Amino acid sequence: MSKLIIPKVIGHRGARAYAPENTLAAIHAAADLGIEWVEIDVKLTKDCVPIIFHDEELGRCTNGSGIVAETDFKAIEELDAGLWFGDSFMGEKIPTLEDALNVIIDRGLGVNLEIKPCPGREVETAEVMLDFATRIWPDDAPPPLVSSFSHVSLESAMDVMAEWPRGMLIDEYIPHWRELAEHIDAHTININGNTLTRDQMDEYLDYAKPVLAYTINDPKKAQELLSWGVAGVFSDCPDVIRDAIEQFH
Ligand code: G3P
Ligand code: MG
Repeated sequence: MSKLIIPKVIGHRGARAYAPENTLAAIHAAADLGIEWVEIDVKLTKDCVPIIFHDEELGRCTNGSGIVAETDFKAIEELDAGLWFGDSFMGEKIPTLEDALNVIIDRGLGVNLEIKPCPGREVETAEVMLDFATRIWPDDAPPPLVSSFSHVSLESAMDVMAEWPRGMLIDEYIPHWRELAEHIDAHTININGNTLTRDQMDEYLDYAKPVLAYTINDPKKAQELLSWGVAGVFSDCPDVIRDAIEQFH
């Protein structure tokens, strides 16, 4: 496995301040800004097609409604996933994982694939995602970082593709985080940077693996976290954070 080199700024859901989140337009927006890596959320349709989508329900980010896990891909591909964000994005679709990875590969981006299972589908979401992604991803490119809030999904990811690095997502501090991280051999700890305390950070640093923080849109906060030892931040406006960080140094 090539060495994991994580940039200081990762585009969150593409670059969600500038284009509808988790769409191909959002991935292109990040690439156009010169951002090196994007984070995208992967879940399954009812008929097990891996798509890029954050919510369990379709309402917020499409012109449809209902639950993703109860909707077949045939209906999902009919939806508009851009109009809610702005008229100029009309016609944007919910991408399949395959569509998204092909753009990511074409644009020379790195990627953090967040496994975002609908409840009860933790294992199959990890398995299907990795089955598709490992077939598409070039052998000579640095591997994707595979992350999840679901420990079950991360265990499955380790079973299916141990060589691809895993990021353990932690929203609220859990005292036994280290035991969990060691169990799935976490390569990164991905924490909520907006609630992180300095003491918690010191604990995470003791694990001696990169700590990544989401979702940081305030350059001052980014600078503070980097000064604490955070290796990188996820941002909706990654260019703003990148440019500010360059000025700080
Ligand atoms: O992976 C970082 C971040 O995306 C986790 O939270 O809810 O935005 O997927 P969420
Ligand atoms: Mg995410």
